[in-house]
Amino acid sequence: MADFVHLSAAGVSLVLDFRGPSLPAVVHWGEALGDLGPEQLAEVALATEPQPIGFSADTPVRVSIVPEQSAGWLGHPGLAGHRDGTAWSSAFTVSGVDRSAHGVRVRGFDGTAGLELAIEIELHPAGVLRARARLTSTAPGTYWLDHLTLFLPVPSETTELLDFTGHHLRERSPQRTAFTHGLRVRENRTGRTGYDSAYLLCAGTAGFGNRYGRVWGVHTAFSGNSRTVAERNYHGHSALGGGELLLPGEIGLRPGESYTTPWVFAAFGGQGLDSVSERFHSYLRSRPGHPTRPRPVVVNTWEAVYFDHDLGRLTELAKAAATVGAERFVLDDGWFGSRRDDTSGLGDWTVSPDVWPDGLDPLISVVRDLGMEFGLWVEPEMISPDSDLARAHPDWIMATGDRLPPTARAQQVLDLHNPSAWAYLRDRLDALLSDHDIGYLKWDHNRDLVDAGHPASGRAGVHDQTHAVYRLLDELRARHPGVEIESCSSGGGRVDLEILARTDRIWASDCIDAHERVAIQRWTSLLVPLELIGSHVGAPRSHTTHRELPLDMRAGTAIWGHLGIEWDLTRATSEELTRLGEWVALYKEVRSLLHTGTLVHGDVADPAYSLTGVVSESDALFAVTATATSEAYPPGAVALPGLAPDRLYHVRPQPPGDVPDGNAAAWGAALPWCTPAGLRLSGRTLGTAGLRLPVLYPDRVLLIRATPAGEPT
Ligand code: DGJ
Repeated sequence: MADFVHLSAAGVSLVLDFRGPSLPAVVHWGEALGDLGPEQLAEVALATEPQPIGFSADTPVRVSIVPEQSAGWLGHPGLAGHRDGTAWSSAFTVSGVDRSAHGVRVRGFDGTAGLELAIEIELHPAGVLRARARLTSTAPGTYWLDHLTLFLPVPSETTELLDFTGHHLRERSPQRTAFTHGLRVRENRTGRTGYDSAYLLCAGTAGFGNRYGRVWGVHTAFSGNSRTVAERNYHGHSALGGGELLLPGEIGLRPGESYTTPWVFAAFGGQGLDSVSERFHSYLRSRPGHPTRPRPVVVNTWEAVYFDHDLGRLTELAKAAATVGAERFVLDDGWFGSRRDDTSGLGDWTVSPDVWPDGLDPLISVVRDLGMEFGLWVEPEMISPDSDLARAHPDWIMATGDRLPPTARAQQVLDLHNPSAWAYLRDRLDALLSDHDIGYLKWDHNRDLVDAGHPASGRAGVHDQTHAVYRLLDELRARHPGVEIESCSSGGGRVDLEILARTDRIWASDCIDAHERVAIQRWTSLLVPLELIGSHVGAPRSHTTHRELPLDMRAGTAIWGHLGIEWDLTRATSEELTRLGEWVALYKEVRSLLHTGTLVHGDVADPAYSLTGVVSESDALFAVTATATSEAYPPGAVALPGLAPDRLYHVRPQPPGDVPDGNAAAWGAALPWCTPAGLRLSGRTLGTAGLRLPVLYPDRVLLIRATPAGEPT
């Protein structure tokens, strides 16, 4: 076994120290160290070895992927569990190391505790790290696992933390704190990923921004309960970690049984948050199952008709949708069982004869004849107490003891660990997909898992439920490989890289007010590339905030994702339909750029303005968005990031988002570049001196196109 393993990709290095015999210590995670031989790796370890200090461990302590007290680590332990009070502290000895396609597999054992541990560590070509561990009990009796959390050290230069909070209609809201001594634990106990998940917990150098500072980020890829942590202690150790949050008694391992952690993803970026996002986006785009066909323009019926399902009304909506260029028509909640409002029917996944006397096929035919794909909403994991399913199988509802959990949105959760309930759902969904011409499922999940036990045993059930959902999705995808699936959870409550391993899009938020969406989409795209983020044009007056916004702001914001429309187009004016059609046409023109290019953000000092762009070799599109009035009048200049310095670009406003609200006076028509003819400027000028921003009304977006125009003279 070599003393050191050096994984290196795309400017990132991870050096593991196997001089053990304990679990490998992480000597370095961050900027690439170059092509180092064994002596140089030993030199790095020597140079960075912590000093054993007085009244403390006599041997240097480093952070391992699973930090242990027995190795001198006094922080949050990587592993916690016990056998009736014994085996509570582990001391693993490495028994084997194998190279894998992208990294290493480490095996360890602790004969005293009766445990084996297998850790997989991968560094993908994009520079994204991921790790997971499998714990196996080898001794008689039961090992009760409290948690298994994987850690990566970060350097002491990381003085600030960024993570996320949020709620329904305001998902992934950023929060910054100082990275001080102590443990910051972001727990999610909602039984789904959560609106307020830590999402990507980042530690960075002072003042790190979109394009500057060194940043290390960690994401716990799990759709149930999770824990994401940052810890710094007075011994000079700093680390980020993640894992599943296990409820009491969820995992009891008998001899030979194993538990596997979620994947914990991590990325380092040397040039701010954009450099971290770029790695995640490249990683996700390199997956074999990543959606590659052009992301179709969606029309979703929810905010258009809600529960008012009527073939005539929906036919008119479908016709209007096709006129503006929609390519996929999604029938939302209300088509099944007794579901005439949100108080009943979940679980009865058969087409309602009350609203669809001839079934769904007449609507599907209309949609298909108009050249669109048909999509259907489902919420499989839920059950309404007022449903035929609940009346037939009250014992299928997740519960603890002899009580039911409090209802939320008048619904309960189906216990998918129950094989009969799981098979029922699989068969109902399979039948729907087999019997109808359905190309897309919007898979919803509209309540937290509270008091969620298996009714038969009374034991906590979130872990089992989460894995049962994964199995269900996997099986349906295997049976219907052509069907795309969207992960929705009362908006953006289930956005993580494990659900995205088996879905093709996430619904970022039920809030489609463009003013709010600017932030929701920006921060969702920190981890997830634009082609996976559902983003809709809503009605002129937002249903969730009652803010009124012009169409150009609504559409100019929605194109920065996977575009959809969620608006009763039968009530739109002909001018609105024409304008919307122009936006749809622009989206179709630029979607290959938006969905394959590099996402960039300006570090705009003016809090009223933000700048987002996507850059490729042959094209670039930027959006300057004002969400308030500027302190400066006129506003200052902002650099257009990501362009090639030695290229000349034709830079000009991009129609139809070139004249916000048709009122040129609002944005300073005299700006030399801001004319239909635009200017030819070098990437260096645009990326350094930048462009002067025009005065914009609040809640307006201005698009800027920059296309290569040769070499600067
Ligand atoms: C919550 C989703 O986020 C909405 O888009 C919509 O599908 C409703 N559920 C339907 O009940």
